[in-house]
Amino acid sequence: MTLTLLGTGRYVPKTIVPNAEFEKTLDTTDEWIVQRTGIRERRICKGETLLDMALGSAKAALANAGMPRIDAIIAASATQDYHFPPLACRLGTALGLNGPFCMDVGATCSGFVYALDVAAHYIHAGSAETVLVVSAEMLSALTDYTDRATCILFGDAAAAAVVAKGDKPYSSVLNCAADPEESLFCKSGGTVVMNGSGVYKFAVGVASKSIGGVLEKAGLCMDDIDWFILHQANIRIINGIVSRCGIDPAKVPISLDQYANPSSATIPLTLDLMREDGRLRPGQRILLSGFGAGLTYGASVFEV
Ligand code: UT7
Repeated sequence: MTLTLLGTGRYVPKTIVPNAEFEKTLDTTDEWIVQRTGIRERRICKGETLLDMALGSAKAALANAGMPRIDAIIAASATQDYHFPPLACRLGTALGLNGPFCMDVGATCSGFVYALDVAAHYIHAGSAETVLVVSAEMLSALTDYTDRATCILFGDAAAAAVVAKGDKPYSSVLNCAADPEESLFCKSGGTVVMNGSGVYKFAVGVASKSIGGVLEKAGLCMDDIDWFILHQANIRIINGIVSRCGIDPAKVPISLDQYANPSSATIPLTLDLMREDGRLRPGQRILLSGFGAGLTYGASVFEV
């Protein structure tokens, strides 16, 4: 399969919440949070909606891509504020588009990797030429701010990519592991419930497995990859994956220090930050690795 990345964009809420803010209401410290997670601050919506963020990131990605005609919109979100219509349809309307097929993909923190894969397959099948893929997440709406073990982890953000038919190779592996213990869930009307250490162990194991799996499928080795863009859940999870796979840490960008974990948006957010600051350059080969509730996991490799 092939895929070309035409552009990326992001929207992050204006309100910055540093770790010190939690010291006022919870038995926690900035030092604990930084040591155990690597997170220093996060963005939280104050007045912005999920659609505002999705729209902001989509407009930025479309502008960066040179405003191509869009055949499909695929949105990933684990934090939907509407049961229906799908976020992708509402986004299409907000963008003034009338015609592209629109759908949502629910794969929690792996959502962007899954949504991009859906886009790649539609493009490969000839059903679409250019696809807008958006991840928008408002974790703050589902977070229990009296639970110190979860509320420090999450943030709000949206990020998007425009992808099209091209001649650059694309490979992926997607999986879902059985989760009889319900390690990470949020029921309708409820807040996030998590077995932190269970998720931690799961994440390091499956991400390492899918990174190895996608490299094998693509016929590549670690040295062939310029950037490993990993889901930004916790710096210790990232370090665990890096050491288990033998990845050069210099090839692993970090955004969780500033933006914490906005679920499926972490990967495209990191991608967009890298494009903007010039780290991402044409010809580079990147590997995306996502993992999250479900328990979903997946990885993909393509060239910029
Ligand atoms: O996208 C996937 C989303 N989920 C995740 O990324 C979660 C992955 N897991 C983690 O990131 C880590 O497991 C946590 C950061 C959630 C927890 O770190 P940990 O090193 O595994 O700590 P722990 O759960 O073993 O807890 C150690 C202690 C406990 O106290 P006791 O029982 O030993 O007295 C916790 O109550 O740390 C306590 N604790 C805190 N202390 C200060 C938990 N949260 C906090 C906190 N501040 N915010």
